[in-house]
Parts: sequence; structure tokens; C-alpha cells
Amino acid sequence: MQRPLNAGGFRDAARRALPKALFEYIDRGTEDENALRCLRNSLDSITLVPRVLTGHPQRELRTEILGETTAMPLVVAPTALAGLVSHNGEIKLARAAARMGIPVCISTQSITTIEEIRAGAPGASLWFQLYMWKDRNLSRALLERVEKAGVTTLVVTADTPTSPKREYNHRNGFSIPIKYSLRLGLDVALHPRWLCGVLLRYLLETGMPTYGHYPQEFRSAVTRLSIAEAVRLENLLNWDDIHQLRRWWKGKLVIKGVLGVHDAHLAKTAGADGIVVSAHGARNLDIAPAPIDVLSGIADAVGHDLDVLADSGVKRGSDVLKYIANGARSVMIGRLPLWGLATNGEAGAEDLLAMLRDEIDVTLTMLGLQQPSECHTALQRTRLTPQRSGTKSKFAEQGS
Ligand code: GLV
Repeated sequence: MQRPLNAGGFRDAARRALPKALFEYIDRGTEDENALRCLRNSLDSITLVPRVLTGHPQRELRTEILGETTAMPLVVAPTALAGLVSHNGEIKLARAAARMGIPVCISTQSITTIEEIRAGAPGASLWFQLYMWKDRNLSRALLERVEKAGVTTLVVTADTPTSPKREYNHRNGFSIPIKYSLRLGLDVALHPRWLCGVLLRYLLETGMPTYGHYPQEFRSAVTRLSIAEAVRLENLLNWDDIHQLRRWWKGKLVIKGVLGVHDAHLAKTAGADGIVVSAHGARNLDIAPAPIDVLSGIADAVGHDLDVLADSGVKRGSDVLKYIANGARSVMIGRLPLWGLATNGEAGAEDLLAMLRDEIDVTLTMLGLQQPSECHTALQRTRLTPQRSGTKSKFAEQGS
């Protein structure tokens, strides 16, 4: 199979490979998808000014993130149900990330357990994303398992105090419990490679997939609603919980979903080592700002004390450099590795990451820079003025 040329090509291939309900669950935003459009518009409106004739022989993409040296400034973001995209998808993602020299953050809501992922990807740098359960003691016990599996960094998702209103999921029947319908049946039947290679394989080998990290007594098929209160996601999570987590977890602690300076300061006060300036891929709050628009203010305020990461909306290596130019030390990517995984399993995920690395390298070379961290010197913000019909867009209001 020919390797797609860019992330858009991987996305197209994923759209063909996956049932529509699963593809849209990953691809789309929430409500009217304003935040999703805003992400792209904001990223597209940023330009970086190159230096010419700098003659650097080669670039250095290695980056320090939360005490570890990674091959490039990327981390595979936590994504629920990645194991539905490809059989043993979470292990495949971890192996691909390890080969590319970057960490992978495993979701509380993965299908495969952290122990199985560790066994399948012994060399991987594994991070873990926490959705706190109502029963804190169960979450604490999970953290002990996570630590034993050699996880260095815990990423607490802070931006999901309730379920977002993703109407396409309802239309597609992609809800918990799943809504079986003729339409959903046809959707699955029309994707025989996924049906046989993923779903039937799970059904034959282990039965309907479950959320692997849930305690055995509360574990139910991902298609069914778990009624147990103990493992409901804690919607009342607050900063006291983060202070408590700081006492429980000895490794690096990162708060994901920060979009304001005040919260960034609170994360610092709570003892976090890092934050992810993130809009959850524009999947949660449809009036959230684009992270790129608030990033530099946050990085200026806490960047000396905390490792600032960013995510949401990345399509190109140049998007990664735009985030770094605005103050991120490194960038998380969620949807893209899943497109790679859907396209061609582990090799597809690796191809996708290699493609992004090459795009970062080419863009950096074009900018006349040697390291991503130098990108702030090339930052120039431009905003497109409203276009009159038939005229070309003009750049205006140039600032530093
Ligand atoms: C889970 O975190 C999701 O965005 O669906």
C-alpha cells in the first residue's frame, strides 16, 4: 500500500477503513463544531518568518520533556478506545511511538491494560492519563499498578466535568450503551476489514472489548453502560484532589486541559510538574479558545516553573512548530496517530509519526533554524482581514 502523503491522506484512508460511527467519534468536535473551526483558523493565521543563509548542516529535534529526552517534541496523546481502531491498537501505538523515540500516554479508558501494553512494548516510554473515579481508593489502586508498570508521568484530565454534547455520536448510535440499529449494522458490515480484523478477532479471542483498567467486578463490554457508581468519572474533581494526587503520585504530574493563566498558577501551586494547554481537540467545550491563542500568555506566566505542553488541531509538522514558537516545550497529538493506526496498524502509526518528523525537519530547515526551541525568534502573528468576495486575502495587523 502506498503511504499517504500527508495527515489528510491518512485521515481519508482511516475514513475508508473504519465504520463511520467510530471514524466520526474520533474526528469530530462537539455541538456546532465552532471550536474545531476556531482551532484551524487560529493555527492557519500564524506565520513564522525565516532567517536565510544560515547554512546549518543539520537540525537537532531532540527535546527534554518532563525530565526525559525524546527524539522530537511530540507525545502521543491519550485517546479512549484506541484499541478499537486496530486489534491491540494501544500496544501497536506504544510500539510505534517507542521506535520513533517519543512517549505515549495511555488512557484510563483504553481497552488493553497498562501491564499488557508494557509487556507488548517493553521499550516504550509510557505515560498514563487519569480520569478519576468516584471511588478514589479504586483510582489509587490503579495508580499503584500504573507505577509498577514503569510509568513515569501521570496526566490528569481536568477539562471534562461532564459528558460533552456530541450529537453525531447520538445520530450514529455510538453511545454507551450502544444503540443497535440497521444503520449501525450496515455501517459495520460495509467495513469488512475492520469487522474481521478488529471486532470479530476480539470476539473470538477475548469477547467484546471492555475498558481494561476497570476493576474486574465493574468491568462490562464497552457497548454496555456500567451502572456502578464507584467507577463513574468524578465530576466534582477540584484542586484539593490535585493536591492529594500530588501526595499519592511520586512521578511527574501533569494537568491537561488548562486554558487560562489563573489555572496554570493553581496547577503550579498544587505541585504539578507540567500542564497541557489543551482544548481536548475541540471535543468538549464549543466556546473554548484555541490553545494557540492563549498559549503564549500562559507560557510567559508559568513556563519557567512548569513544563508547558500544548495540543489540539495539529495536522502538520509546521503546526507543531507554531505551538513551540508560542511557548510550548512539546506537543501532544491525538487524532493523527489513530489515523495512522487505522490506515495500516503499527506500521501506519509509525509512518505517520515519521512523516510528521520529516515535516518538522523540513519546516525548521526552511526557517533557517537548528532546533524547535528557536522557533520563538521566527514568530510573527498575522491575521487575515475579512475578504471581499472575489478579492484575495490580505495580511494585516502584523505584530511581533
Ligand atoms: C475522551 O476523552 C474523548 O474525548 O472522547
